[in-house]
Amino acid sequence: MSYSPLQTERYKYKPKLPEVLKGNIHKIGINPKGSTKSETNQKELSDMFPRTYGAPFIETLAVDNTLESKSINIGVVLSGGQAPGGHNVISGLYDAMKKANSESKLIGFLGGPSGILENKTLEMNSKIIDQFRNTGGFDIIGSGRTKLETTEQFDICEDVCKLLDISCLVIIGGDDSNTNGAVLAEYFKQKNSGISVIGVPKTIDGDLKNEYIEVSFGFDTATKTYSELIGNIEKDANSSKKYWHFIKLMGRSASHICLECALQTHPNIALISEEIEHNHKSLTEIVFDMVNIIVKRSELGSNYGIVLIPEGLIEFIPEMKQLISELNSLLAEHAEHFGTLHTFEVQSRWINRELSRDSSYVFSTLPNNIQRQLLMDRDPHGNVQVSRIETEKLLIQMVASRLDEMKSEGKYKGSFSPQDHFFGYEGRCAFPSNFDADYCYSLGYNTYVLAASELTGYISSIHNLSKPVKEWTAGAVPVTMMMNLEQRHGKLKPVIKKAMVDLDGKPFNEFVSKRDIWAIKSSYMFPGAIQYFGPHEVCDVSSITLKLEGNK
Ligand code: FBP
Repeated sequence: MSYSPLQTERYKYKPKLPEVLKGNIHKIGINPKGSTKSETNQKELSDMFPRTYGAPFIETLAVDNTLESKSINIGVVLSGGQAPGGHNVISGLYDAMKKANSESKLIGFLGGPSGILENKTLEMNSKIIDQFRNTGGFDIIGSGRTKLETTEQFDICEDVCKLLDISCLVIIGGDDSNTNGAVLAEYFKQKNSGISVIGVPKTIDGDLKNEYIEVSFGFDTATKTYSELIGNIEKDANSSKKYWHFIKLMGRSASHICLECALQTHPNIALISEEIEHNHKSLTEIVFDMVNIIVKRSELGSNYGIVLIPEGLIEFIPEMKQLISELNSLLAEHAEHFGTLHTFEVQSRWINRELSRDSSYVFSTLPNNIQRQLLMDRDPHGNVQVSRIETEKLLIQMVASRLDEMKSEGKYKGSFSPQDHFFGYEGRCAFPSNFDADYCYSLGYNTYVLAASELTGYISSIHNLSKPVKEWTAGAVPVTMMMNLEQRHGKLKPVIKKAMVDLDGKPFNEFVSKRDIWAIKSSYMFPGAIQYFGPHEVCDVSSITLKLEGNK
């Protein structure tokens, strides 16, 4: 195996730990504080989670007495999309466990939650861990999107954990995986199985956050990686002055990534799905707003620019949302029949007949390639896979045809030469920034303390993240207090509320206060590549979103 020079250097990086986790591991304990409740649906949630609802907040702290660190086996699983820092969660957990008791074992489940059901495991040792320290990716044990939801699956999890003598299962995942983890924790407790479940907040999308979780890991590195690429494209646009670049950015639903990248790079246009939904903007109105900016810049001699588009946009435009929801239902209810329709022409004739009048009209106005993408395979929830819909191309086509119309009416004299890009997978496995490397290592290290304290139904948390690492604090939050009830497939389900961009929040308002200037006057910022070594001011900075949200 050969390693790049950066990889070799990153292996040597010692992630910084907050003061509270730095001391003798046998003297780090927990302090339960009061009881908790969910913001809404308190009665229903306490009925659904009789054994875990209302659990106290946990503060991790140094204790005077030396705690007995018996040998324990912990199982760990990576769930969902990759996010930079996952390897550091595992190495932090491993280091803390081994420091406390060298007989303890960390067992990784391979390929995500399905690895638990199939009992596919890899026991961690220093040789394995050392090859993955401070590197991106989830390849140490792999990840997957299998959902652990049914009683049958829970029973298999229990059997497998018992077989491996695992007393704590650590689930590194997003809102869905952590929700399912909390249901599993309740089930294990009800069965007196003696197995606890602890979650770790992961997703580049940044939508697993609230008053108690400041940011999910991976968001920092992914947004810095995309911002580097956007900055490079801005430099190119500013040099050649001939292209309009339409850049779609990952983020399944919320626009946090797009907003953070806009704050870092100052594009001419950045669409924020939550604002579009709030203002009930139609696709045509969005296109007209964009065209206004393109025409104004053209009149000033600038036939170039940068547009940022959040991946989830399409589902926030009212008429598209309605169309997608009808398509999702139709494809779920008539999956068998739809499977017998072999050509796109036959499929779209059938779809047009089944859709409501309004949605059928919207569908018929879309370009052929977008219609095809809307009919592609669904994700495990039965939803359209937005990362596969080329919204950036749809917008380019609509903008170009509006500009052609304006040209023929004598209202536009410029030239419009578009380029499309999609940045998503490019950022999910980058070498974690120092922020994510430190944050994830701390999360993993802290998770050991929670597991050794036999807590269950909690999510590991590190606070004060906009401050220097030594001021960070650690603890745990009961998952049930972050839950509410939502309709899913016609049933009320307990879920961790997804955090969307807050239109009253500081990051969005900062963007709003600047965007009209950025629209017309090229004000591009060039963040450059993530720096791992060098001055603290460039290597250890957190995202702008976190900084602004931290300054409440
Ligand atoms: P998670 O929520 O599981 O972290 O994944 C987020 C994400 O990266 C989205 O931004 C994107 O829409 C999706 O995963 C892509 O999924 P896949 O890897 O299955 O193509």
